[in-house]
Amino acid sequence: MNLQYGLPANLMTWAEKNHDKLSPPVCNTAIFPDGDYIINMVGGPNYRTDFHCNPTEEIFYQIKGNAHLNIWDRGKFEQILIKEGDIFLLPANLLHSPQRPEPGLCLLVEKPRPEGNPDALNWYCANCATLVFSASGQLTNLVENLPAWYQLFYQKSDAERICPSCGEVHAGKDALTWLARFKDVHQMKYG
Ligand SMILES: [Fe+2]
Repeated sequence: MNLQYGLPANLMTWAEKNHDKLSPPVCNTAIFPDGDYIINMVGGPNYRTDFHCNPTEEIFYQIKGNAHLNIWDRGKFEQILIKEGDIFLLPANLLHSPQRPEPGLCLLVEKPRPEGNPDALNWYCANCATLVFSASGQLTNLVENLPAWYQLFYQKSDAERICPSCGEVHAGKDALTWLARFKDVHQMKYG
């Protein structure tokens, strides 16, 4: 047989072989980069300040370790715990910010984006939840497109990251500073 994507392979063996790609700062790599489905393994630990708006659904299967999503839904922040062993179907267009405090493993399945359905990354003020910056566009490669969008925000100066409503400086890529403030102000359960 000469199958396009090879024969069945043990997923945990694959994860061990690709350990370096599942650890910081990468943490996310495609299992079948040439296939029709977008099937990624996500490692950790990894913390983020961006909130992702995906025009299509996402499947999370948390194989190892616990994770949580910070979400922005109907005008307020909330959190969703994804425990080891959980499977979760995230609805399309729900702004979510995955936080992975442990060096775990999560199988993430996404769909290729239909043309004309852009993704967005939003950054909110940790104090008053005002939108500070948004990057958006047609996503063609999950692993390559998103880091370029992060840089659009991270390269900004402190002055360019000032909240237009309350004047607080967004911590940019300093996720632990942003998350500590977010947890304190909005009385979130998970840090
Ligand atoms: Fe603010």
